[in-house]
Amino acid sequence: MAEVPMSAVIREATHPARYSVEARRQPVAQPAALLRYIAQVEDILASSADTAAIPARVAGPLAELACVRDLLSPEQRTGQPDKYTRHTLYADPQGRFTVLAIVWMPGQTTRVHGHTAWGVVAVHEGRPSVALYEYEPGYGALPREEIRCVPGEVSWVRAGIQYPHRIFNADQRVAITLHTYGRDLSEDPCAINIPV
Ligand SMILES: [Fe+2]
Repeated sequence: MAEVPMSAVIREATHPARYSVEARRQPVAQPAALLRYIAQVEDILASSADTAAIPARVAGPLAELACVRDLLSPEQRTGQPDKYTRHTLYADPQGRFTVLAIVWMPGQTTRVHGHTAWGVVAVHEGRPSVALYEYEPGYGALPREEIRCVPGEVSWVRAGIQYPHRIFNADQRVAITLHTYGRDLSEDPCAINIPV
């Protein structure tokens, strides 16, 4: 069963923008909750004249989706011992965005990376961590801070190598995160990441 909070707190931070939404559990079973989220993202894309504002607008709906109990199927909750595991939940037919669930076994991590498109990530279960870096031309990614996240917490980042970060699971329990990226990843889910 998903470990999710029950009441609401929104906290804002910087680089990448970050806040926590502890939303009321939604009595909506998959796929209704996912379909509703997809409709919300489509509305945001259709109404956002400023594309830079899209990830911040997607963050709230994704945080709410992350708090939906029993959102994922047993298969979508399956991890692998040797690498973190991506499960595609939805691929927009027009290629505008992709929704993923990622399962992190203890100790698994990404490389330090930026993104080829905007991205939003929310914690569904567990206590994954994010490490933030400053990008210095000529030097690369310089460590700035590490944050242990909680269920319902959401972060977002714009495209580019100027916002390097790393997600990892330093906890002893499995962690599951939900992601939405502003591009088609149906042929290569790794195409979202730019190593820094
Ligand atoms: Fe990332």
